Amino acid sequence: MKIFLDTANLDELRRGADWGIVDGVTTNPSLIAKEGRPIEEQIARICDIIDGDISAEVVATEYEHMVSEGRKLAKIHKHIVVKLPLIRDGIKACKTLSGEGIRTNVTLCFTAAQALLAAKAGAYIISPFVGRLDDIGLTGMDLIRSIAKIYSNYGFKTQILSASLRSTLHVVESAEAGAHIGTMPFKVVDMLFNHPLTDKGLEQFLKDHAKAFQSSGQ
Ligand code: G3P
Repeated sequence: MKIFLDTANLDELRRGADWGIVDGVTTNPSLIAKEGRPIEEQIARICDIIDGDISAEVVATEYEHMVSEGRKLAKIHKHIVVKLPLIRDGIKACKTLSGEGIRTNVTLCFTAAQALLAAKAGAYIISPFVGRLDDIGLTGMDLIRSIAKIYSNYGFKTQILSASLRSTLHVVESAEAGAHIGTMPFKVVDMLFNHPLTDKGLEQFLKDHAKAFQSSGQ
């Protein structure tokens, strides 16, 4: 499963890129707003840091405007994936932009029926929101499993991007369910490294090594 960072923060992206395990980036209007720069400018900076798919979301909600905004975003860099909300005009815009060879990420997906529509419209990526479903008392991961089954039944090429991931368990379960991509905040990627037995084991290895070789002067 590819690991994407769900952030528009350049420091977090640089730190993730430095680890060598970040395959791409997702942003949304809220994440862009937090950084205080216009979307075109911030997205261009992100493209300089991460060598992979970068999702940039339109803010228009009407078909014609979504398409023109999508075309403009796609011109920023060859790695741009145009993110469109899963509303009627968004699906229609997805069909148009996909037909022009512009890669799309259909976002705010909360049902398998919506994911089916996105695949039929030629979406490159579908983004089901796991954490936000958990927040309202549902099992978000069931949605990933259901979409994976439907896409596999019909051979849809749309990649499943498990979004709104808040824990290491979300990441592992997404991978088990067959998501192609998991997108997560920096703090969740950071948590993937951790295990107390790793730290304890390393401390012991180094202690033993130091005892054996430092005492004999080597
Ligand atoms: O970017 C889409 C999604 O990952 C948002 O996550 O944590 O705001 O529900 P969250």
